[in-house]
Amino acid sequence: MEQREVVVVDAVRTAFGRAGDKGVFWGTRSEDLAVGLLKALVERNPGVVPGMIEDSLWGVTNQVKEQGGTLGRMVTMLAGWGWEVPGCSLDRMCASGLTAAGFASACIASGMHECLVAGGVEHLGHVPMGFMRENHPRAGEAMGGEYAFNMGLTAEEIHRRFPEFTREMADEVAFHSQRKADEAMRAGKLSDRIIPIPVTLADGTGAVVDQDQHPRPGTTRQALAGLKTPFLENGNVTAGNSSGLNDGAGALLLMSGDLAREIGLKPLMRWVATGVAAVEPGIMGTAPVPATEKALKKAGLSMGDLDVIEINEAFAVQVLWCLDRLGVAADDPRVNPWGGAIAFGHPLAASGPRLVAFLAGHFRDNPRARYGLTTMCVGRGQGYSMVWENLQRN
Ligand SMILES: CC(C)(COP(=O)(O)OP(=O)(O)OC[C@H]1O[C@@H](n2cnc3c(N)ncnc32)[C@H](O)[C@@H]1OP(=O)(O)O)[C@@H](O)C(=O)NCCC(=O)NCCS
Repeated sequence: MEQREVVVVDAVRTAFGRAGDKGVFWGTRSEDLAVGLLKALVERNPGVVPGMIEDSLWGVTNQVKEQGGTLGRMVTMLAGWGWEVPGCSLDRMCASGLTAAGFASACIASGMHECLVAGGVEHLGHVPMGFMRENHPRAGEAMGGEYAFNMGLTAEEIHRRFPEFTREMADEVAFHSQRKADEAMRAGKLSDRIIPIPVTLADGTGAVVDQDQHPRPGTTRQALAGLKTPFLENGNVTAGNSSGLNDGAGALLLMSGDLAREIGLKPLMRWVATGVAAVEPGIMGTAPVPATEKALKKAGLSMGDLDVIEINEAFAVQVLWCLDRLGVAADDPRVNPWGGAIAFGHPLAASGPRLVAFLAGHFRDNPRARYGLTTMCVGRGQGYSMVWENLQRN
């Protein structure tokens, strides 16, 4: 079947806050993070009106409390878009938002829809990982061991099975993630895709949040080497070489290439292919490899054709493992040029749209770059990869 051209015309996110009462979004609900982005997508893109958006697909990992009740639908009404814009919530844990982008791309490519929003939101301060979840009594057995429920232990398991990836190597990934993030922030690389969100802080004062709270500029190798291993005694995974616990949202506006041209919008990138794969849950962090291989095969491309690789840094060791198996050096400049989730944090479902927003920025900065990858690992043993083509080329 012939596919229609699918383009991303905008990619925005909130700044990412730290989860908990010291977090900038402690007094802000998940829906309001998403609403800020929906409003911005219409304001930033002349010619786009809510009535054109045929569905609002939102990734949300834990769909309880404020994140329940079909958040994807609620937020269209809360944004003041009337009653006529539908919406739904999707869950593929960390890749929920990227899956929303994948499903949206497929719907537009098939001709089912012309224009969609695909987003992801997670407030780990209000709705912690696994909150209120009741696992099936045989779930641990089905996943190969109870430890597979604990993401930190799945990272420790990669260290255990593949001791060639050492703590020192993981800390080096973390060090460079923080360094690159600091450089990108100082150079003002991120600001055009961060939508400022008005908030009330825990002390009752008002503020407008437009800066990521998680990065730790000035992180040293020495400090990283001294951190405890909270998941396993004498282990290798630390708060420094893991992604953090965060609050945030990200959203993409996708449409057919025909519609973008008709309303005169200049797209950022074109969707090329999607790959989704599953692996043993106990080493879930390895799944970006088969997912990427599938996506590249569909695209008719190889790793060498990629000019930018945005891989979600759930844990440094799984990034090391994946890059090694994909034949990419850990310090390859194509990889996470502005740093990753170790520095910026990982509000689960929001991270996929963040990767796409970062890729849009790299494509802008490198008009000669042609292809880019966004890829993530997922708890329970899954990987999700999308290949994109730069439309900001000279
Ligand atoms: C690893 C984890 C448990 C740490 O949580 P935490 O203890 O609340 O983290 P903190 O930010 O308080 O950091 C712990 C300590 O390390 C220090 N630290 C963290 N990063 C550091 C850095 N880059 N440089 C120096 N010190 C650092 C902190 O200052 C803190 O020190 P303190 O105890 O003296 O105050 C948590 O971030 C986590 O669970 N991450 C994984 C999330 C996840 O599984 N996501 C899904 C992926 S699939």
